[in-house]
Amino acid sequence: MAYGLIGPLIRLLDPETAHGLTIRALKWGLVPGIEPFEDECLRLRLWDRDFPNPVGLAAGFDKNAEVPDRALALGFGFVEAGSVTPRPQAGNPRPRLFRLSRDQAVINRLGFNNDGLEAVAGRLRARPAGGIVGVNLGVNRDSADAAADYAEGARALAGLADYLVVNVSSPNTPGVRALQGRRPLEALLQAVLAARREGGAEPPVLLKIAPDLTGDDLGVIAEVALESGIDGLIATNTTIERPPGLSGRRRGEAGGLSGAPLFVPSTRVLADMYRLTGGRLPLIGVGGVASGADAYAKIRAGASLVQLYTALVFHGPGLVNRIKRELAGHLRADGFSTVAEAVGADHG
Ligand SMILES: Cc1cc2nc3c(=O)[nH]c(=O)nc-3n(C[C@H](O)[C@H](O)[C@H](O)COP(=O)(O)O)c2cc1C
Repeated sequence: MAYGLIGPLIRLLDPETAHGLTIRALKWGLVPGIEPFEDECLRLRLWDRDFPNPVGLAAGFDKNAEVPDRALALGFGFVEAGSVTPRPQAGNPRPRLFRLSRDQAVINRLGFNNDGLEAVAGRLRARPAGGIVGVNLGVNRDSADAAADYAEGARALAGLADYLVVNVSSPNTPGVRALQGRRPLEALLQAVLAARREGGAEPPVLLKIAPDLTGDDLGVIAEVALESGIDGLIATNTTIERPPGLSGRRRGEAGGLSGAPLFVPSTRVLADMYRLTGGRLPLIGVGGVASGADAYAKIRAGASLVQLYTALVFHGPGLVNRIKRELAGHLRADGFSTVAEAVGADHG
């Protein structure tokens, strides 16, 4: 309710300033606690971990792992920090984050601005036990060896993260998305899995893919993912496409588009991946989730978990409870008693 008053004021600010204030408000405990909606049917067990619900906070909101526990307290079932690169870096020049309010969308070309592995590892080490916090790994812009950057991240954070994400789908760092091809991807995943072993603990490793891949690319990724022994896929990151019908003034800005217009293309890639992997790899569905119906559609398309970021910008933190309540309603209405039963239901 508080957000109903403050939200419109926050949205008057430049989006990056607004985001910085939001992180600080969370850090200082200024965001009123929310009594989380809980329902047995939302619980699920995956990768030997118990998720209280399948609705997670997507990467990019808490890039530096400053507020993962505050975010969990908003009712998220899990939080993904990052992307974090080995060394700190400033990212692209501002402005680099744009709201398309009429489209319920955002364009960003942040370019992996973050505090680097050491700072993030320190914060994760200091956080209390409990709550599922994954970390998304990126690559420094001036890196000569991308695979080595991801491996360094995996080595440093294996013992501190509940899962690790190899993010080869950011559109804002040159060369990153080219790592989705067969040879580079095989080499990259082997390097990361080897580094994870050196890191001691062996958290699940997931690969996060772009929504802009063609059918052939998706087939290759599915094959490599299954052969490599990684633990799951995240579909999808932001899109470099500009779907017809966008009306926001900033729709021509370069960068990755997220939010409502990404829902259909990202859900299509998710469903394709479920089909191509025969449902054998757990999938996280992300892109344009703003309601329980959206989350439910991702689950039916093949997602075991979902994530969101952009809808929070427009609806505030009360959205998390609303999505969970609506999702529980959809599951029950269709006769499912758990999320797990509904995963991939659209595929017959
Ligand atoms: C401002 C912003 C920053 C992001 N930064 C990252 C990032 O660092 N790493 C990453 O894997 N995805 C990043 N993403 C992508 C989101 O994690 C997510 O995949 C995408 O936004 C689609 O979900 P949404 O429509 O719910 O926002 C970012 C998205 C936004 C809007």
